[in-house]
Amino acid sequence: MNLDKITEKYFLNIKHKLIQSRKLPHPFHSKNGRELTFQWIDLCEPSLILEVRNSRKVVQMSSSNKEVSKKEHNFFIKNYLKIPRIDLIIIDQLTNKYVGSVIINFTKYGLEIGKYIGDKKFLGKGIAYYGMNSFLKFLKIYLSGKKIVAKTMKSNVVNIHINKKLGFLNIKALDDKYFLMSRRL
Ligand SMILES: CC(C)(COP(=O)(O)OP(=O)(O)OC[C@H]1O[C@@H](n2cnc3c(N)ncnc32)[C@H](O)[C@@H]1OP(=O)(O)O)[C@@H](O)C(=O)NCCC(=O)NCCS
Repeated sequence: MNLDKITEKYFLNIKHKLIQSRKLPHPFHSKNGRELTFQWIDLCEPSLILEVRNSRKVVQMSSSNKEVSKKEHNFFIKNYLKIPRIDLIIIDQLTNKYVGSVIINFTKYGLEIGKYIGDKKFLGKGIAYYGMNSFLKFLKIYLSGKKIVAKTMKSNVVNIHINKKLGFLNIKALDDKYFLMSRRL
């Protein structure tokens, strides 16, 4: 059996099933004991999502290197069912604040994961690591054995450290700026 054989259609079918039932990964805790939960991006408040997505560091490390406008976000949400990606917003339960996001996207590299923490107060608390860990366990239920990749800037030492801890051990240089790391679900 070829474990890597996954088409956009196959992935979209999984997304549709998950979104219909609004399934979510398990909540998790940060290093300082805060409870964090997930919510589907299309059920979240756009202006609050954009605040975290457009924070300086997230923009700097994004592939586009650009902020997402309100118009672009609205267009994205309007077409969300057709787009082969799953975006979950991470929410701090104590304050109800949006903290960041975990993403899986069907790209030219395969099933590509991404994450960001857009509120400075929540950085360095293990949220990216524990949040992605919960997300990967959730994805494994539906995509067990499939290869997943993470594209990361070579300069993003924190992200590379987290990805290694998450089991992304196969590192390849994509070009002079990016690494591609991979593992199986
Ligand atoms: C990368 C990012 C997601 C990390 O989020 P975070 O919640 O602060 O990360 P965590 O707290 O889970 O983990 C940080 C880890 O980096 C380690 N770290 C901190 N500074 C480091 C450094 N200079 N070199 C290596 N590791 C470092 C921490 O010790 C911690 O690891 P540990 O738990 O094993 O001690 C966040 O900085 C971010 O959103 N950046 C912008 C977007 C981005 O780069 N996304 C990733 C590409 S898709």
